[in-house]
Amino acid sequence: MISILLLSCENKTSAVVSAKDNDVEKRIEALLKQMTLEEKIGQMYQISSFDNSGKMQELVKKGEIGSVLNLTNPEVINALQQVAMEESRLKIPLIVGRDVIHGFKTIFPIPLGQAASFNPQLVEDGARVAAIEAASCGINWTFAPMIDIARDPRWGRIAESLGEDPYLTSVLGAAMIKGFQSEDLSGRTAIAACPKHFVGYGAAEAGKDYNSTFIPERTLRNVYLPSFETAVRAGAATFMTSFNDNDGVPSSGNKFILDQVLRKEWQFDGFVVSDWESIREMIPHGFCKDEKEAAEKAVNAGVDMEMVSPTYTKYLKELLDEGKVKMATIDNAVRNILRIKFRLGLFENPFVDINSPSVLYAEEHLQKAKQAAIESAVLLKNEKATLPLNEQVKTIAVIGPMADAPHDQMGTWVFDGDKNYTQTPLKALQAAYGDKIRILYAKGTEYSRDKSTAGIPAAVAAARNADVALIFVGEESILSGEAHSLTDLHLQGAQSELIEAVAKTGKPVVTVVMAGRPLTIGRDVEHSQAVLYNFHPGTMGGPAIIDLLFGKAVPSGKLPVTFPKNAGQTPMYYAHNNTGRPYQGNETMLADIPLEAGQTSLGNTSFHLDAGFDPLYPFGYGLSYTTFEYSNLALSAGTLKPTDVLTVTIDITNTGKHDATEIAQLYTQDCFASVTRPVKELKRFERISLKAGEKKTLTFTLPVEELAFYNIDMKKVVEAGNFNLWVGPHSQEGLKASFVVN
Ligand code: NOJ
Repeated sequence: MISILLLSCENKTSAVVSAKDNDVEKRIEALLKQMTLEEKIGQMYQISSFDNSGKMQELVKKGEIGSVLNLTNPEVINALQQVAMEESRLKIPLIVGRDVIHGFKTIFPIPLGQAASFNPQLVEDGARVAAIEAASCGINWTFAPMIDIARDPRWGRIAESLGEDPYLTSVLGAAMIKGFQSEDLSGRTAIAACPKHFVGYGAAEAGKDYNSTFIPERTLRNVYLPSFETAVRAGAATFMTSFNDNDGVPSSGNKFILDQVLRKEWQFDGFVVSDWESIREMIPHGFCKDEKEAAEKAVNAGVDMEMVSPTYTKYLKELLDEGKVKMATIDNAVRNILRIKFRLGLFENPFVDINSPSVLYAEEHLQKAKQAAIESAVLLKNEKATLPLNEQVKTIAVIGPMADAPHDQMGTWVFDGDKNYTQTPLKALQAAYGDKIRILYAKGTEYSRDKSTAGIPAAVAAARNADVALIFVGEESILSGEAHSLTDLHLQGAQSELIEAVAKTGKPVVTVVMAGRPLTIGRDVEHSQAVLYNFHPGTMGGPAIIDLLFGKAVPSGKLPVTFPKNAGQTPMYYAHNNTGRPYQGNETMLADIPLEAGQTSLGNTSFHLDAGFDPLYPFGYGLSYTTFEYSNLALSAGTLKPTDVLTVTIDITNTGKHDATEIAQLYTQDCFASVTRPVKELKRFERISLKAGEKKTLTFTLPVEELAFYNIDMKKVVEAGNFNLWVGPHSQEGLKASFVVN
């Protein structure tokens, strides 16, 4: 019998959530009293700068727009803000939104890459740089971070995610929020964050963008909601609803998640914006018969501001007259929006100083972006210490469509980054080593999808004349991101043929991948002595990669997402539940089955005949130029109460020849419970730098209450019982200990 220990984990708010400020609340009420219904509805409308009705200025003047998205010219923003502040009746500033996802001008690695750093400080710094640059152009609101749990690499938006894990996503999402908003949301370089997409978007069926999701409440609460709850606690100013319908209810009309969870349970007091036309899209979803019903369902569910589609402006008045929407609902939405405008200091400082010196592409920003690219790279293979390259290398063949692809290495969701600032690997190599090393550049294929093999012989010839071949492959930036899902995750075009042909020369092949998702590169790995995986690394990807290849930096990144062997294994994630016939390591593969074998399932477990059980690379995996040894795992106690804090210590020794950083990971497993639990869950991680030969003791503290989960009664509890714990280099390896909670 499992005893259930109830913990008061729900409704816990931390000090970081901005407490309501009385002055602000008074100002909101004073303003609200003066507002006409049209002005209130106006605050709830976000217009796109692509709107070509020519009425934007006029609407701002009448107080009928609360926000605009996609303006980036500071002079234009100031001019529009001037209309709001000087010509509109109530002088309410506009909040100006933009997708500043992984940098504004200086582009950082895509979020999935940043997640590979397992470094909250680095992620925070990246968001800070993005905010400083965006704010300097008059943007005061970004639609980031995307903290959807993404477990399906077919889904193009996995690129924009922080990976598959709720804990990693929570920690890094909070870091991004801190970076965007800084300590002081009213500061001149702060921009409001907008955690998105609330909620479940990443679980799109078949990885097809916008597709339906079917996430039951328990899984929603255990897997998909924690990163958003953490975002509220981190003080996120706004939230965005997602496009998907979950179990039949589109998020923009989902009262349960918007009202019950977000407002009542989490006490969120910022505002909720819809995604782009997602309110109107509830019509094709088949959830609303027309725009009027869409407006009714969205506003009553708790969407405060409508992005782009104008159902609120068109129908809220009518719905109010008919009693289908209450004035109190509209007032509350306006309160939420005004609260954030006040917190952002927009009433005091609505304009951007266009005469201050430019901060765009500041040297400091570029250096931070380079460091981010270094820490985001994951070394997947390094046979016979092929890397780092040393001085004996006299001639290098640089091959592949991504070696010099300034646009594509920036990755998806780049609206403002300029490819002319991108430093590619080829250019970085030429700049750093051009005078010492002969560089033979032969692209092989023109771009990632290029199926032509015409360029391969020249690439092979270059490799023959070189000591080593560096092959830069991957995906063009447009192949991942919104609405860019795939079913085939192999390298596109003739890239695999290119690698194979070059490998046949017998020269060492170093494959450098730059992509927006995990690709199924098993075959390419076979043909390479070393593989360095970079999720699109951004503006400074080139110098970062060259430093890594030549050992000026040592790879430390770990995979924030499982790499499947083939797309047929997806969705695939380490924190799965066990079946009743868990994998035992004794797979009978396709070729092992005799002809005319009789029907049997005996001895078989949950696996694929043609792919086995394991992924190509597990979550958390990543090599270094050195080796690490884990020893002496110790727990502070073998039996704990739910109110206790477990202390875990472990020694880590750098047993190789390079100073390097290891990302140690702590996982737990709740062995049996009132509902089945994941085989492993990441609970802590730590970056630890060790000189060659050095040993350090790492200490983790884990409050037992963090083992709580939503149980059979949908209560967040720690259930008494047995737990396993591992500390190690990735999700499939580590020293193991056990403890009991009673
Ligand atoms: C649609 C995307 O889903 C969302 O993430 C983005 O912020 C908005 N468009 C605005 O561009």
